[in-house]
Amino acid sequence: MEYDETIILKNGGACRLRNGTEKDGALALANYILTHEQTDYLLTYPDENIMTGERESQFLKERAESADEIELLAEVEGVVVGLAGVSRVGTAEKVRRRAEFGISVDKNYWGLGIGRALTRACVASARRAGYAQLELAVVAENEAAIALYRSEGFVEYGRNPKGFYSRYSGWQELVLMRLELR
Ligand SMILES: CC(C)(COP(=O)(O)OP(=O)(O)OC[C@H]1O[C@@H](n2cnc3c(N)ncnc32)[C@H](O)[C@@H]1OP(=O)(O)O)[C@@H](O)C(=O)NCCC(=O)NCCS
Repeated sequence: MEYDETIILKNGGACRLRNGTEKDGALALANYILTHEQTDYLLTYPDENIMTGERESQFLKERAESADEIELLAEVEGVVVGLAGVSRVGTAEKVRRRAEFGISVDKNYWGLGIGRALTRACVASARRAGYAQLELAVVAENEAAIALYRSEGFVEYGRNPKGFYSRYSGWQELVLMRLELR
């Protein structure tokens, strides 16, 4: 899917939100690894990463050509500072109206409005793709993310007390959230 929008951040700077393409593999992967080093709230650790620049390029190419999945980049001064995506839950008839949402922003750029803008762009893209529901799972202590999701209309529908096992802090409860799109 395609997306292209430029927004003005809380610090007055410009940020371009656009779908990643084959050319963005290296920069997108660098941001992915960086954000996974900066927080313990994401699914994987940087040392578990199996992507290469080449594989990331292929992934972004497929997403750009997809009719119902997207990977968005947030770019500030030509540098990728955040990623967010919409992925289908499955292709089986019973689940094909559901999609999953994921997001991460470089810590050095938190609080500027990038997370909200990426979230809105993903919601708009999921709607455009025709999904009925957008879903996510968030670590219960991740107050910033939960506040963001609630304010964009996501509602909690359950919790998984043993959702993640952190190598630093042990069990992390996951809050399951959903947004009805139609
Ligand atoms: C969650 C995340 C994407 C937010 O990105 P961001 O660019 O800082 O978000 P924004 O600046 O657009 O802020 C959006 C909202 O988040 C909430 N928020 C942001 N920082 C917050 C903080 N320190 N404390 C509480 N709420 C906060 C606020 O509701 C804010 O809205 P407001 O500006 O109107 O008050 C970012 O912190 C991040 O990437 N975290 C690490 C990865 C992660 O946790 N991903 C989510 C996994 S489910």
